[in-house]
Amino acid sequence: MSKPFDVIVIGAGPGGYIAAIRAAQLGFKVACVDAWSTAAGTPAPGGTCTNVGCIPSKALLQSSEYFDHANHHFAEHGISTGGVAMDVSKMLARKDLVVKQNNDGILYLFKKNKVTFFHGRASFVAAKDGEYEIGVSSPSTSAGRTDVVDTLTAKHVVIATGSNARALAGAAFDEVNILSNDGALRVGAVPKKLGVIGSGVIGLEMGSVWRRLGADVTILEGLPTFLGAVDETIAKEAKKAFDKQGLKIELGVKIGEVKSPSTGSGRTGKGVSVAYTNAKGEAQTLDVDKLIVSIGRVPNTDGLNAAAVGLALDERGAIVVNGDCQTNLPNVWAVGDVVRGPMLAHKAEEEGVAVAERIAGQHGHVNFNTIPWVIYTSPEIAWVGRTEQQLKTDGVAYKAGSFPFLANGRARALGDTTGMVKMLADATTDEILGVHIVGPSASELIAEAVVAMEFRASSEDIARICHAHPSLSEATKEAALAVDKRALNF
Ligand code: FAD
Ligand code: NAI
Repeated sequence: MSKPFDVIVIGAGPGGYIAAIRAAQLGFKVACVDAWSTAAGTPAPGGTCTNVGCIPSKALLQSSEYFDHANHHFAEHGISTGGVAMDVSKMLARKDLVVKQNNDGILYLFKKNKVTFFHGRASFVAAKDGEYEIGVSSPSTSAGRTDVVDTLTAKHVVIATGSNARALAGAAFDEVNILSNDGALRVGAVPKKLGVIGSGVIGLEMGSVWRRLGADVTILEGLPTFLGAVDETIAKEAKKAFDKQGLKIELGVKIGEVKSPSTGSGRTGKGVSVAYTNAKGEAQTLDVDKLIVSIGRVPNTDGLNAAAVGLALDERGAIVVNGDCQTNLPNVWAVGDVVRGPMLAHKAEEEGVAVAERIAGQHGHVNFNTIPWVIYTSPEIAWVGRTEQQLKTDGVAYKAGSFPFLANGRARALGDTTGMVKMLADATTDEILGVHIVGPSASELIAEAVVAMEFRASSEDIARICHAHPSLSEATKEAALAVDKRALNF
């Protein structure tokens, strides 16, 4: 007997669980199916973000930052700590507790909003009479349909199945020596030497965690430029700070053979050896205890049985959608990492809300031009809108203003004056086109810039708004003043 719903959401990551809640708020009878399980086999909704992404990585970044502060910064405040030690297992247990609180929070929200949750793997069975039939099999089934325990039907299906880490050819993740984001969050003891392939967001965040705890970290990056998507001034400033911290980043490398006990290279025992050529074309070898591979992620449609209903995928395996997240099938929608666009939790959430509202006949909307990015390193890096190099490429006439945290009273009091706020505005209309921050609390400061851009504010608008003193946000106001060459404190 099939169970009828109005909307079935596949995946309970930030895209899926938020879509399910919003659809329920709008009066639909909603089912959400998610396969993620705890080690004990119980449901763990929240997807990559909650289980092996945003939340646990930020928990470890916080713990390791406290450790770093205690070791290197407390003394300047007159605090003597004696020897500071890190209990890695306690740090990991705290991280696991934070994850569990988030898993439980989502289950609570499903109950509160009357979303029916199914712990299992969902796959398309058929489309008939304007309805889709979805089979739910046990959570550990990867091939779908072999052990269907529930059959659900609905007119609308929202696919939010997320993404998986991309492996390096010939070096599959074994999560012991060669780690994806999952293994990188579970390393039981600080490795003496840690290698990271890819100096993107995960490489920098996870590299920072283990460096702060004492690992000798080397990041190997294929591209010749550091953080190519980031505004050049900001990327340069961040690189300077990372160099000073001892995070070794080699750009322009070409990775060769990776030898570890799991790669069939004949290597036994522990550790990983990475052969590569450096930017000068010289052959090099990096020997490390653990290797994190963070070279991007691939959309996940495993076990969905997309072919059963003719769901179109692109050449990357992502579900093809239009600007409104509609797939090629009527009333089948897809959101988040499994579709085009940045792989960010808040982008997935925005799309989830918009889709639920469109199903209800409303005009859900996502403004892709004002999606903020944050890299939670120290200093933090955050931006919204276009970079200076993009404006040049696009031939847009612009004005730029920046303000260093070195000249900000609150940053001095904090003892963290690295970085700056940089604002870019249209040369004619003064509309803000981009805001780029590297420095303390950049993740929080960027929100003002997002609001400003969403309301199509000018740099003068920000310059005329009263900002609390002393606060880091004064740097944003000063950067806005600097656009008009009238910064007051620099
Ligand atoms: P996911 O979160 O991947 O969720 C998909 C869910 O669908 C999973 O639970 C999966 O088990 C389930 N599923 C898949 N197939 C099926 C099926 N057939 N049946 C049932 N269930 C299925 N983003 C940020 O914005 N900020 C951050 O700080 C940040 N940090 C990150 C750190 C790391 C280490 C990583 C890896 C990612 C990070 N991200 C961050 C990215 C963020 O995690 C993703 O963009 C986000 O989780 C995408 O949400 P989603 O709902 O599309 O997919
Ligand atoms: P990424 O796309 O951020 O970085 C991958 C890096 O690896 C790039 O610099 C790329 O040039 C490099 N690379 C690719 N192939 C390579 C190769 N063969 N050899 C050497 N270098 C190579 O991807 P990452 O770090 O894996 O993260 C995936 C996604 O997860 C991010 O793009 C982001 O969307 C999301 N994420 C977001 C976070 C946040 O918002 N704070 C934190 C972590 C992840």
